[in-house]
Amino acid sequence: MFNLAGHCALITGAGQGVGAQIARVLAEQGATVLVNDLFQERAEVVVDEIRKSGGNATSLVADITKLEVLKEQIAQVTSELGCQIDILVNNAGIPAEGIELARFVDSDPTQWSRHIELNGYGLLNATYAVLPGMIERQWGRIVTITSDGGRVGDAGVAVYGAAKAMGPGFMRSLAKEVGSVGVTCNSISLGSIAHPNYQPDAERLAKMNKLYATRRRGTPEDIAPAVLLLVSDEGSWITGQTIPVNGGYATS
Ligand SMILES: NC(=O)c1ccc[n+]([C@@H]2O[C@H](COP(=O)([O-])OP(=O)(O)OC[C@H]3O[C@@H](n4cnc5c(N)ncnc54)[C@H](O)[C@@H]3O)[C@@H](O)[C@H]2O)c1
Repeated sequence: MFNLAGHCALITGAGQGVGAQIARVLAEQGATVLVNDLFQERAEVVVDEIRKSGGNATSLVADITKLEVLKEQIAQVTSELGCQIDILVNNAGIPAEGIELARFVDSDPTQWSRHIELNGYGLLNATYAVLPGMIERQWGRIVTITSDGGRVGDAGVAVYGAAKAMGPGFMRSLAKEVGSVGVTCNSISLGSIAHPNYQPDAERLAKMNKLYATRRRGTPEDIAPAVLLLVSDEGSWITGQTIPVNGGYATS
């Protein structure tokens, strides 16, 4: 099950964190993986690691908020590799943990666009760049990583939540446009994922853990298996959905 041999997967923002783990898992299942990131050194660490484990990976250093450059770079890498992207994981985004909490009325309007650019335009650009090929070849998988900050809402992250909520809305409509030609579009909604750059103090961590039925925050390893199901042949009848993978966040 979940054999991805013969498929080529682009994972945006895969130089660390959740995206890096998704890249590792898809490569383990046989996909040729394009590790996208803004930062070459991050992407290359992940590529080296995958290659050392026997997988196929290539870095794709590109800013996904710039459509024309992204399209050119995708065309160049895929022609060098002789592959076509048939799996896209829209992962790049700003983790909520990196955001200073502020009520919307107190938020800084000059900071709004960075959320909309990356979570909004980044998502549209990457999808726009690869979808025509999926339609032509009558097979494709698109998974967008979103956040419970957008799905259920959280005080203090309203702009982030608005930007992350765009993914599920986009996936739902797109699923209806392309389902008949073998392309599925889904979102996975994450709860808080432990992140090396954002370590809450012990008191805050204990409070956060209490919000989860599992009494712990997630890890990138908790997320990648759900992505694997959605991008596999076995996941072909799941489309237009937003699947929470969140340790039971917001449940009582
Ligand atoms: N970490 C969490 O707690 C959490 C919770 C809910 C949702 N999410 C979502 O999960 C996804 C991954 O989160 P993470 O914690 O692994 O993030 P991260 O910051 O660790 O990794 C994101 C990567 O994306 C890259 N990136 C940023 N802008 C880019 C651009 N314009 N073009 C290409 N690459 C770019 C960064 O360089 C970075 O390596 C994001 O969409 C985030 O919103 C994270």
